[in-house]
Amino acid sequence: MNRNACFPSVYMGQDLEESVENLLKIRERLVLDLNAVHPPKEELRTSYKEMLDRCSSARGGNLYFPYLGTGRGSGPFVELADGSVKYDLICGIGPHFFGHSHPGITKAMVYSSLMNTVMQGNLQQNVDTLDLLEDFLLLANCKGASFGHCFLTTTGAMANENAIKILFQKSSGAERLLAFSGCFSGRTMALSFMTDKANYRKGLPRALMVDYVPFFDFANQENSIQRSAQILEEHLNRYPGEYAGMCMELVQGEGGFYKASKEFIDSIVTVLQRHKIPIWVDEIQTFARTREPFAFQMFQLDSVVDLVTVGKVSQVCATLFTAEFKPKPGLISQTFTGSGSAISTCSYLLKNILQGSIPYGETSLNMEIHRKFVDKFQGIKSEFEADFEGPYGIGSMISFTVFQGDLVKTKLFIHRLFENGVISFIAGENPYRVRFLVPSPVLEDWHIDEIIDLLKKTLRELS
Ligand SMILES: Cc1ncc(COP(=O)(O)O)c(C=O)c1O
Repeated sequence: MNRNACFPSVYMGQDLEESVENLLKIRERLVLDLNAVHPPKEELRTSYKEMLDRCSSARGGNLYFPYLGTGRGSGPFVELADGSVKYDLICGIGPHFFGHSHPGITKAMVYSSLMNTVMQGNLQQNVDTLDLLEDFLLLANCKGASFGHCFLTTTGAMANENAIKILFQKSSGAERLLAFSGCFSGRTMALSFMTDKANYRKGLPRALMVDYVPFFDFANQENSIQRSAQILEEHLNRYPGEYAGMCMELVQGEGGFYKASKEFIDSIVTVLQRHKIPIWVDEIQTFARTREPFAFQMFQLDSVVDLVTVGKVSQVCATLFTAEFKPKPGLISQTFTGSGSAISTCSYLLKNILQGSIPYGETSLNMEIHRKFVDKFQGIKSEFEADFEGPYGIGSMISFTVFQGDLVKTKLFIHRLFENGVISFIAGENPYRVRFLVPSPVLEDWHIDEIIDLLKKTLRELS
């Protein structure tokens, strides 16, 4: 990977290069011991508990896990301030695709830390932003899509919020949007009314009108395709001319790692196209994690997608849109479009994908990792039978159910698994699932073997 590509040449120089190489060596030494799961240190138990209590009080709510990191990590391992070391298989709910302390990421961050500013934004975009925008467009268009523009932002929710504004401005007069049931879109005021969770909008005044189309039902495929197309048709006939677009998660993330079939998506797209409804694909969770860099490429939607939003793995979030959807000046603008380190880290990722160092398609690294989990999960299934089902999901989005997906038992499992040294998270609803967003580029076979052993240990303890 050419470092020049993620750092302006004005900062290059042999003394700097040598210093950075030295820093990398020091960093490597600093995390050398982080190569195995470790329980908490007895002598830190009390002080750690106190820190957790102070954290809950300061932020006004308990943490989901008793997780306060030291800032040290290596590959899939992360260290907590209680002295424990754990496999991080949720990666901050997605972002740390390269795991912890990855040399390429560290290098990109060191160079960006020497820039004149911390954040870039509306009035201050450096040349690395330009480079990144062009790389995003190159990658998104490499299989035939025709995105003309890319707007950076700091969170997935803001990328989606910008998409909504672009859609409504384009189809003035429209007041409604369409989405799949079970979707998660973010937690701004507007998105609280798109995210399909009633308790996430409790007490809020309605900020957006969204009508839902049932997501693909794997257990009842033919019927699901017909039923969803029919319900979509009914919405469109009930409110003609009132829809600004449809938001689609092709693989539902928070919803439980449910992947739609191509036939299902094609049938929805056919209806949308007949009614001239713009198509927006939310790839905040799927970006870089499936068989192709974008899930819409895997579904061959290149010629029909109008907008796509990305986040998480990309560090800096983005809304990409075709020239037809270019907003009028003033509609989208931000003081902060991204930190220098997020921009250079994203650049490192995109250049690795574009240059083929992280393989997608036939030889997809994510799919290879998924296959390895599928193989190993056979052993768990044969031992625990109905108490373990899966894996579900695709690529580096891996999920499974324990104890028939019961909420209480699934939460108990996730917390016990955390104590035993693997960080996961919950997803879906009835059945509830356990999910991993694994750091594909740094996960080795022996890691997977150890993870499987820890899963079995936890299941045995709770069975
Ligand atoms: C599909 C999807 N859209 C939007 C979001 C919101 O992203 P953020 O939490 O960065 O605001 C998420 C976050 O989990 C997501 O999974």
